[in-house]
Amino acid sequence: MMATRKIAVLVGSLRKESFTRKLAKSMMLVAPPTLELEIVNIGELPMYNQDIETDNPPARWTEFRERIGAVDGVLFATPEYNRSLPAVLKNAIDVGSRPYGHAAWTGKPCAVVSCSPGALGAFGANHAVRQCLVFLNMPCMQMPEAYIGGIAGKFDEAGNLNDESLKGFLTQFMECFATWVERHAD
Ligand code: FNR
Repeated sequence: MMATRKIAVLVGSLRKESFTRKLAKSMMLVAPPTLELEIVNIGELPMYNQDIETDNPPARWTEFRERIGAVDGVLFATPEYNRSLPAVLKNAIDVGSRPYGHAAWTGKPCAVVSCSPGALGAFGANHAVRQCLVFLNMPCMQMPEAYIGGIAGKFDEAGNLNDESLKGFLTQFMECFATWVERHAD
């Protein structure tokens, strides 16, 4: 019997009709019950600036750091901006990484999923996120990889997945992630 694990889901897009958010929500729906997934909003985090990293940093930074500190794992869902990760997601990663020596991320098992209306499935963004995870010392699930191309055609009007094969893949991905989180749990 696996214990229940809390997972923060970070979505690297702020727009209302974001495909990335729809994809993340679909993954939350097919995840095994041992994972308790919650989207943590990152759109209102002030841009990282070392000058305000004082004894009294912005409340939204502190709140975010505490929320990440309290979870057992992280799922990064990212679109691709100019072959890399969007600034909003990089900012969240940066905010959670400080103060130096006290990163909220350290040791938390994670996985990355990327998507794009294009054919390449945001491969560049996916690996740009992974590059950060190395330095943050977060064990990142290697396989299966998830680069979801053609994302614009995968949802119905209500935002539900309309692609059974993708749904099957995402179900398998989340099962593997649950095992990964368990393996790296404290
Ligand atoms: C894009 N888009 C994009 N797509 C891609 O596959 N590779 C890329 O490098 C880029 N670059 C890029 C830069 C900027 C500034 C924007 C606004 C967009 C297109 C992008 O995949 C598309 O807008 C998605 O719909 C964004 O994801 P959400 O918002 O639907 O989750």
